[in-house]
Amino acid sequence: MAKYKFIIVITALGLFTAAGSAMAQSVTEKGLKDYYKDYFPIGVAVSPGALKDSAEQRLILQQFNSLTPENAMKMGPIHPQENRYNWKDADAIVDFAQAHHLRVRGHNLCWHTQTPDWIFRDKDDKLVSKEILLQRLKDHIHTVVNRYKGKIYAWDVVNEAVSDNNDQLLRNSLWYQICGEDFIFKAFQYAHEADPKAVLFYNDYGTEQPAKRERIYQLLKKMVGAGIPVNAVGLQGHWSVNDPSQENLITTIKRFASLGLKVQITELDISVYQNDKDIDDSDLITERLQKQAEQYAKVFKVFRDYKQYITGVTFWNVSDRHTWLDNFPVRGRKNYPLLFDQNLQPKKAYWGVVNFK
Ligand code: G3I
Repeated sequence: MAKYKFIIVITALGLFTAAGSAMAQSVTEKGLKDYYKDYFPIGVAVSPGALKDSAEQRLILQQFNSLTPENAMKMGPIHPQENRYNWKDADAIVDFAQAHHLRVRGHNLCWHTQTPDWIFRDKDDKLVSKEILLQRLKDHIHTVVNRYKGKIYAWDVVNEAVSDNNDQLLRNSLWYQICGEDFIFKAFQYAHEADPKAVLFYNDYGTEQPAKRERIYQLLKKMVGAGIPVNAVGLQGHWSVNDPSQENLITTIKRFASLGLKVQITELDISVYQNDKDIDDSDLITERLQKQAEQYAKVFKVFRDYKQYITGVTFWNVSDRHTWLDNFPVRGRKNYPLLFDQNLQPKKAYWGVVNFK
């Protein structure tokens, strides 16, 4: 009996050491940021929690050279009441980045989701006027952008303002209902006033879908034509194993670059599911991870081939350990959309992204 116990311990130890040594991979070992140093920065969206976890922290420092706060800088979390700002989580992320010489992308200054109700309503709970709403937007943008001036190099100024409906250019949000399209133009002017050096992004999803791409192009062409200080476009990149095609992605990059704007992929993840009906099935996972590896290799080839327009690629979360796609579009359906598995180990897709000629 004793003999077997001894063998089990050794094995466990061996495993641990292996795991230990894997875990002990030093931050100096080559990571995504190093493989792509001649192309563009590689970033990751983080929560303060991810920075506190020593293993995740080590992986972040090894692989990435840019951070985006996943939620901490959105209007709701950072400005919950008119006279109260909540800087704690946002400061923690910026301080960590400063300490480790990482870039930071600010996300986001104006959005229709995670936006506190107070900004749209007066004390009698009635919708405020355009003038009051724009003044509140100006105060918010000036206060947040000034706090991180020189520490945040780029801002998603307006997020997801273009409609998903083909018969409408702009999303019918409360911002639009109260201000019309002006809230978009003003938001960029306020951000530029607050930090003239910051790179200002319009950020959206579905940017490879031809009809939505043209609506976004129409909006940006009007802004550039009117001298609105928009510098770049964020393709969120919430993709899947079968979408987008390389052709559609190339068309999107060239279409926006033709306006003289830079392009970034700002929220990259590739779902292993093709639709909402797919279920998390262990028999299918190997095949799905193979397809995912092929899709990641395909999109990164496009990013490299068009590096003259691409100024950064950011993943939306660190690993499959924590991803918003576990609750969207199917609540509770585990997804595996990133390059590192739940044990923070590089997946097949990782090697497809870094092994290029
Ligand atoms: O902080 C509260 C917590 O106090 C509360 O106990 C908990 C329970 O409901 O909710 C927590 O807030 C959650 C927040 O994430 C922080 O975890 C919100 O419910 C949840 O809705 C929010 O989800 C975020 C989502 O944006 C909101 O729309 C996701 O984490 C975030 O990944 C996601 O990111 C967006 C980008 O900003 C824009 N593009 C699409 C992308 C995915 O939706």
